[in-house]
Amino acid sequence: MLKTCFAESSKTSVPIRLCTSSILTDLLKQRPIYVQTWVDQHAFTAAPSSILLIPNQDGQITEVFWGLDDTPWQFASLAGNVPNGTYHIEEWGDIDQNLACLTWALAFYQFSRYKGQKNKSQLSLVWPSAAHKEWVEAAIEGITLVRDLINTPACDLTPAALAVSIENTIAPFEYQFKVILGEELQRGFPAVHTVGKAAESSPRLIDVRWSHPQAQKSIAIVGKGVCFDSGGLDIKPSAGMLMMKKDMGGAAHALALAYLIMKLNLPLSLRLLIPAVENAISGNAMHPMDIIKTRKGLTVEIGNTDAEGRLILADALYEACQDKPDLVIDFATLTGAARIALGTELPAIFSNNQELSDDLLAAGQKMQDPLWPMPLHKPYAKYLKSSTADLSSTGKSSYGGAITAALFLEHFIEKGINWVHIDHMAWNLASTPGKPEGGEAMGLLATFKFISNLVE
Ligand code: BES
Ligand code: MN
Ligand code: ZN
Repeated sequence: MLKTCFAESSKTSVPIRLCTSSILTDLLKQRPIYVQTWVDQHAFTAAPSSILLIPNQDGQITEVFWGLDDTPWQFASLAGNVPNGTYHIEEWGDIDQNLACLTWALAFYQFSRYKGQKNKSQLSLVWPSAAHKEWVEAAIEGITLVRDLINTPACDLTPAALAVSIENTIAPFEYQFKVILGEELQRGFPAVHTVGKAAESSPRLIDVRWSHPQAQKSIAIVGKGVCFDSGGLDIKPSAGMLMMKKDMGGAAHALALAYLIMKLNLPLSLRLLIPAVENAISGNAMHPMDIIKTRKGLTVEIGNTDAEGRLILADALYEACQDKPDLVIDFATLTGAARIALGTELPAIFSNNQELSDDLLAAGQKMQDPLWPMPLHKPYAKYLKSSTADLSSTGKSSYGGAITAALFLEHFIEKGINWVHIDHMAWNLASTPGKPEGGEAMGLLATFKFISNLVE
């Protein structure tokens, strides 16, 4: 995708003129009569995301008019609307060239592992001079990684396979890599073990460390790696289970964020913790009302075996706090309730630090990767009381489910540690330009921008 959808030189490329209806008249004054006539005859008014191709006598396209939209994803629809050829943007104005290039490239994304690639390699955009090529390339790789991992079905992306994918992704860097499983997991990370023990591919905790030689800050990234969520004994109905290969979306985001940090060599010391499990059903599966141990020592009563994500995150988040990092950030496809509250396209963020939350929100806006804050509303902590254990995983009420899930996680964050929790869908229900149905990065560019700002 990268190799073919951008071109280096602009000698023979066709200009694309970005315009709005208000500047179209002025723009046309500088064009030859035949172009003005063509525009007129096609009643082209530069409506948002509309296109007009101008041919010469031989039928070759010599210039393109594109009606500007106010979203950078328009460059994905532009890519979907121009015929094969090499193009350049004539005048960028104040458009973010990095995001424009990124979204152009994402129009070419296909999940081709099982179906082969449709060849669309004849279309390219000349790199604009102000684009930060390394950033764009890394972002394309990061988003592609997230989508590919989520789209890979559970039969092939088992907890074991996820660990392999993680090591392959970080292979170009100097890292420490550890996978904890078996008895060591059972002893050290009992909640991760409990959730994953019924599955054929055994549960594990993947622990990666990387550091820039001049690290200014330390950060721990955690991602929910439920490779398939059947619900467990509290089994999901089939409509609810259908897409649950995506329940490792948080892990995919955590890995991609770590990849971006390493690839662009941010001056950070980094720890990536991925609890990888399958929430399966078997004779040894956890039961409702089981009381389990966590790494922190708190006992948890299982309110519903389908609330598995918070259990594995509890152990991973507690461990993430142990080095006292400047920031702990986690990604999880944690609750249906967050989707009821904000819909599928707007991830919820929770944080114990208002300033960080505000900064992340602003970074999301800047990157056109929107997020929305939700409260760690303390009075709802009462819903997580259990009469038999330190904590219930769900409590009895389902009201405010995204908040109670976040409050559950907060029990495992050590005092004084800055924490941001992202509850997202990680999936497009329908295709729009550059965003095909299936796995999607949601909050990746926002968090990467936010973290880049921390070390500026
Ligand atoms: N992975 C699901 C949450 C989910 C469902 C995210 C659909 C996005 C789309 C999670 O493990 C889950 O099943 N949560 C339950 C929790 C409940 C049992 C307390 C939920 O949200 O219904
Ligand atoms: Mn579940
Ligand atoms: Zn889940």
